[in-house]
Amino acid sequence: MRSIIDILDLSNREIDELIATAVDIIENPEAYSRKCEGKKLATLFFEPSTRTRLSFEAAMYELGGHVLSVTGAGASSVAKGESVADTAKTVSCYADIIALRHPQEGAALVAAGNASIPVINAGDGGHCHPTQTLADLLTIYREKGGFANLTVGVCGDLKYGRTVHSLIGALSRYENVKFVMISPEELKVPGYVTGALREAKVPFEETASLEGALPHLDILYMTRIQRERFDDPALYDALKDSYILTTEKMKLAREDMCVLHPLPRVNEISVAIDQDPRACYFKQVRNGKYMRMALILKLLREPFEEKPQRELFHHLSCRNPRCITRTEQELEPAFFLAGTGDQQRFRCLYCEHRARS
Ligand code: NCD
Repeated sequence: MRSIIDILDLSNREIDELIATAVDIIENPEAYSRKCEGKKLATLFFEPSTRTRLSFEAAMYELGGHVLSVTGAGASSVAKGESVADTAKTVSCYADIIALRHPQEGAALVAAGNASIPVINAGDGGHCHPTQTLADLLTIYREKGGFANLTVGVCGDLKYGRTVHSLIGALSRYENVKFVMISPEELKVPGYVTGALREAKVPFEETASLEGALPHLDILYMTRIQRERFDDPALYDALKDSYILTTEKMKLAREDMCVLHPLPRVNEISVAIDQDPRACYFKQVRNGKYMRMALILKLLREPFEEKPQRELFHHLSCRNPRCITRTEQELEPAFFLAGTGDQQRFRCLYCEHRARS
């Protein structure tokens, strides 16, 4: 039994295998139409979703399996105060695999620690979204033929944009990849993302200028400003229109640049760009279903595998108000040491934010 909580739970070789399976599914869909007969996927979505939930469900149906679904905390015992751990134990009695979306960071890790079936993180607050990254990777692979030597611009809400955190993690393991992080000062990528890049010596620059970055990019990954994660509505209003990609700005970009977006789009990409051959975000939607099919197949086949444990420390508390350790009953806080030298920090095992000092 194996869960996917972070994209780094998959090696590059496993990602290559998932891509190969997805490409084979695209070419021979009939060969896969009964592979999950008799199996049930539970989709537990405690935050809004269109693409992620429907693509998981479509993926399971196309593999010949069944789907059990909970949408919205209000419709399940979570509304009665049930913990993530108890929900995971309960659903393990009915289903063979879980896809969980939850507003708290680290919720999927707690579910995986308590379920007796594989758990896939379908988004945990502003933290990670590994299966969106699988969709992104298949799209980049099909457009660019691989991942090495790319200059990747990520633009918008890099603080709360969980898809960006996972994408950066995945791409940083390929040769000669550079990142240009384009955001207002208030929405820069969290320290655990830049810390990991520094440690791995992956080059990146941070800028507020989309126009300045555009001519240099192979990939532009646009994101929505995540209104629901702001504590201060006035700050959201001030930042919401920070970046709008228009046909005029696209003139600055290379002829073969790819525009990606995890969607939903609010207004950060002008609808006119949908006609531009460089717009790949609807291809990304389709690719998400194939990669989720490949992932479900892999996890249902995989034998039990114990993950190597890092040394954990329990005497601290997490400073992130959205961390699952703040609400989950009797969950012992756990921290690991990340970075080296004066960059060394205790980071929360669940959400990767720093320990309270
Ligand atoms: C993203 C998400 O939920 O993080 N959407 C998705 O899964 N395709 C991005 C977003 O909500 O802005």
